[in-house]
Amino acid sequence: MSRIRVAVTVDGIRRHVDVEPDRALVDVLRDDCGVTGIEHGCTDGTCGACTVLVDEVEIRSCLMLGVQAEGAQVRRLQDRRCSADPR
Ligand code: FES
Repeated sequence: MSRIRVAVTVDGIRRHVDVEPDRALVDVLRDDCGVTGIEHGCTDGTCGACTVLVDEVEIRSCLMLGVQAEGAQVRRLQDRRCSADPR
C-alpha cells in the first residue's frame, strides 16, 4: 500500500512521516513518531488509553487515521491510563 506524507506537530515538535492511509493515529504516533506514553489498549474507543489532544480537542487516537492529522497539533495527555489497567 502506498504511503502518504503527513506533517504533524507532536508536543511542539514538527514531524514529517510517511504513513499508510489505513493506519490509526495511535500507531503513527507510537511507531513512526516514537512518542511514548500513549497506550494502545482496547483499539475500539472504549478505554481512553490512547487519548490525545488534536488541535486542543480530546481524541481517541485509535479511532482517528494518521493521515487525518495532517497539519494538526497533537499533544499527549499526562497520567492517562487504560481503565482496564490496574496501575
Ligand atoms: S486504545 Fe482504548 S480508546 Fe483507544
